[in-house]
Amino acid sequence: MHIDNLTTPCFLLNLDILERNIKKFQRLANANKTQLWPMLKTHKSTEITRMQVEAGAAGVLTGTIDEAEAVVEKVGVKKVMLAYPVLGKANIKRIIQLKKKAEVYIALDGEEGAREISQVLDSDEINYLLILDSGLGRFGVKADKVVPTIKMIDSYKNLKFSGICTHTGQVYGVSGKDKVDSIIEIELNSTKTAVENLKKSDYKCDIVATGTTPTFYEAIKAPHITVSRPGNYVFCDAIQVALGAATVEECSLTVMSTIVSHPTDDLFILDCGSKCLGLDKGAHGSSLVEGFGIVKDHPELMITGLSEEVAKVKINGQTNLKIGSKIEIIPNHSCSAANMTSYMIGYRDEKIERLIEVDIRGNSKKPRID
Ligand SMILES: Cc1ncc(COP(=O)(O)O)c(C=O)c1O
Repeated sequence: MHIDNLTTPCFLLNLDILERNIKKFQRLANANKTQLWPMLKTHKSTEITRMQVEAGAAGVLTGTIDEAEAVVEKVGVKKVMLAYPVLGKANIKRIIQLKKKAEVYIALDGEEGAREISQVLDSDEINYLLILDSGLGRFGVKADKVVPTIKMIDSYKNLKFSGICTHTGQVYGVSGKDKVDSIIEIELNSTKTAVENLKKSDYKCDIVATGTTPTFYEAIKAPHITVSRPGNYVFCDAIQVALGAATVEECSLTVMSTIVSHPTDDLFILDCGSKCLGLDKGAHGSSLVEGFGIVKDHPELMITGLSEEVAKVKINGQTNLKIGSKIEIIPNHSCSAANMTSYMIGYRDEKIERLIEVDIRGNSKKPRID
C-alpha cells in the first residue's frame, strides 16, 4: 500500500533512514572503540531495540523498569543500565528478578537510594553506576564529590561500584551549534576529573558512560569514555536539526496529516494536534525551534498553534497545497511524539512495509491492583 492511501493523522517511520541512523552511530562507536548502549526511551519499541542489538549495541540504557524487563524478555538483551535511581521495594524486587536474566547496572546518586536498595537486596549483590552531574543539575554529584559519595555508599552492603555515568541534557537548551561544543567540553572535562579522582583513591572505574545525540560525535573520541548512550539518533527531530546535529534527511519519524480547512488566505488547519506532535520544545526547552515541527518540503508553512487534535498553520507566500492535501511533519521532539502512538507505520520508497509497535509505551503495562 502507498503511504498516500493512509488515513491521517498517522505516524510514519522511514525504515531506510532509521536503519541508516542505527548503523551510522554503531559504526562510529565501533571505530572509536566505545561501546554503544542506546537509550530506549526514545522509541520504546522492542523491535527497534532488536535492530540496535543486531547492529552491534553492547547493551541498552532504559528509562523505565518496564523497558528493561521487556527487552530482556522479548529481545534477549543481555546487559541493561537503568538511567535513574530505582526506589520502592516492589521496584527493587523487580530489578533483583531481572538480574537473574541479564547483567544489570542500577544508577545511584546519594545515600537514601543506596540505603533503601541495600536493605531490599538482602544477600544479592548489584552493580551500580554513580551519577555524575556534569551541569544538567538533575541527578548526581559533581566530580569532586564522586569519591566521598562512593565511600559513603561503600558502607551499605551488596552495592558494587562499577563506574560513573552522566547525561549533558543541557545541550538541548543551548542557542546554537557553536555552543554544543562547549557542552561537549564540559562532558569530557567533568568525566575526566571524576576518573582522575577515582584513580587517586584507588577506585577501579570500569565504566565511564555519557551520551546525548548532539554530543555523541565528539564525546566518543575521548579515550576515557567507555560507553555511549544516545537515544534520539534513531529518529532525530526538529530540535536536532535546529542544533545542527542532524539534517532533515536524517529524520526518520514524521506525523502525516491532512489539511482539513483553509479559513483565511494565510491559514490552514490540520487534523493533527498536540496529541500527535506534543507541545514541548525538547527535553530541556530549546529557543531555537520555531513553531511545532518542520513541515517537510514546505518551507512556506509554519505550525503556529496546536489544539489537542488540530493544528494552525500559517502560510507565508505561495503554496500548491489545498484542502485535502497531505503533509508530513517532523516533530520538535520525536521521543515525546513516539510515545503518543501504539505503532508506527514503517515504509520504504513510499510503500508500507510493516507496522512497528511502540510496545513499551509509557504506562502501557498495567499494574496489579489486587
Ligand atoms: C540519562 C540519559 N542518557 C542518555 C539519554 C539520551 O540522550 P539523547 O536522546 O539526547 O540521545 C537520555 C535522554 O533523556 C538520558 O536521560
